[in-house]
Amino acid sequence: MFEKITVVGAGNVGATTAQLVALKELARRVVMVDVVEGVPQGKGLDQWESAPVEGFDSRVVGTNSYDEAAGSELFIVTAGIARKPGMSRDDLLKTNAGIVKDVSANIKRVAPNAIVIMVSNPLDVMAYVCMQTTGFPRERVVGMAGVLDTARYRSFIALELDVSVEDIQALVLGGHGDTMVPLASYTSVGGIPLTQLLAQDRINALVDRTRNGGAEIVGLLKTGSAYYAPAAAAVQMAEAIVKDKKRIMPCSAYLQGEYGLQGMYLGVPCKLGRRGLEGIIEVELTTEERAALQRSADAVKQTMAVLG
Ligand code: NAI
Ligand code: 2OP
Repeated sequence: MFEKITVVGAGNVGATTAQLVALKELARRVVMVDVVEGVPQGKGLDQWESAPVEGFDSRVVGTNSYDEAAGSELFIVTAGIARKPGMSRDDLLKTNAGIVKDVSANIKRVAPNAIVIMVSNPLDVMAYVCMQTTGFPRERVVGMAGVLDTARYRSFIALELDVSVEDIQALVLGGHGDTMVPLASYTSVGGIPLTQLLAQDRINALVDRTRNGGAEIVGLLKTGSAYYAPAAAAVQMAEAIVKDKKRIMPCSAYLQGEYGLQGMYLGVPCKLGRRGLEGIIEVELTTEERAALQRSADAVKQTMAVLG
């Protein structure tokens, strides 16, 4: 258990994340910071009032200042505006970059040794903005996207085959956007390659649905974007760090030559433990998969260029 985990942004993803962190007792104190007066305080108090029912002792508090967050070992950053119908993740770019810069400067000020899990979109670029602003090493700034994208892919495969989600292993690489790269060659069901269980055209359809998974939820909700699965994914990463589990999961990490790419964040298989990002694993890719990863990297670079 950590002493303190702070979730920045007490909106849909942030509040759900804080609640899961408390339910799992990942920290003695769970702090929610948001700019809107009363909202983090109200949600924090409401969550704390659920503690006697749920039986957790993590003390949840909400605040508008970073004083309460001082010394947090881990920050999960969900501050920003969310996608509305018709908006791409990149539409969020400039507004969220300003917000993430402000949040990152505050993190550096009150908790210079913290690890940061970035969630705000466009994810890969926001993780980069956070690393630049804090000056933290890449081990301490990782982005959440691959765990969510993989969870979506696994949930669709489970529906298609009518099998347990628990038995499905999968890997989705690349940027968190329409160019993400679900790898059918690294997908198995109870150890059996997916390609032995499903025809290629069905696999292609599930891959497409995964690529559009975020937009599918936006289209249904109409007033915002997904938050249950995103929060669950961010908390799985937090748990791997807090419990030093050394889990291998796809995360957005700063690349320094891995996969032939550098100077940018992109989704790759990572090892997460107490030190944060403890390693990046380079898997073999077919020529087609490598080209798809390059296209995804190009899309992230284009977004970075817009930001300058
Ligand atoms: P939301 O609108 O419900 O919540 C965002 C919260 O951030 C609001 O409460 C707002 O007051 C707060 N905020 C704005 N500026 C702030 C600042 N300077 N400091 C602290 N808080 C601030 O949005 P939601 O649905 O929670 O999404 C949050 C972000 O996460 C969005 O950028 C969204 O696109 C992204 N997201 C990323 C996913 C991923 O896979 N990486 C998945 C789902 C959402
Ligand atoms: C999602 O994938 C909007 O990035 C968010 O649901």
